Amino acid sequence: MKLSCCLYPGSFDPVTLGHMDIIRRAARIFDVVYVGVLCNPDKKGCFPIEKRVDMLKKACYDIPEVQVLSYNGLLARLTEEKEIPVVVRGVRGVSDLESESAMARINHHLNPNMDTFFLPASSGKEEISGSMVRQLAAFGADLSNFVPCEVLPDILAAFSKQ
Ligand code: PNS
Repeated sequence: MKLSCCLYPGSFDPVTLGHMDIIRRAARIFDVVYVGVLCNPDKKGCFPIEKRVDMLKKACYDIPEVQVLSYNGLLARLTEEKEIPVVVRGVRGVSDLESESAMARINHHLNPNMDTFFLPASSGKEEISGSMVRQLAAFGADLSNFVPCEVLPDILAAFSKQ
């Protein structure tokens, strides 16, 4: 039996194989996995929001449980509006756990009807991050072990223009 639905929020700037690891595992647990592109005020964005959504849709084409959306507001408000009881976040290590726990507590305070489930990054995926991918792309490194093959051409095209 699967649980009803969850939200997997993030910047996805761009989507990485670390994100895909969490999305595929969440899709085994939940009937519907909303993958939400939200704004992280602490990060200066690289790809436009619509492009991030487009890349996520391409990467998740074979996961029927996934619905990609974007939202310009508080995560807690989105869970309230769509009546989503669970937020899923991946944790890569101890420092992630500390900051993610703080975020989970604040979100639960804002919407007591939701809670956050943490999934540990799978082995080999702990080092992958959007910022690492952007840096490798800027210097023309091979990205095939870090991003889904469906979005590789989009990332290469964006960085070849810079
Ligand atoms: O991929 P990221 O950058 O770690 O994702 C962080 C994100 C986008 C999930 C977080 O910044 C967020 O929830 N932004 C929406 C605004 C919000 O609700 N902020 C309060 C969180 S305590």
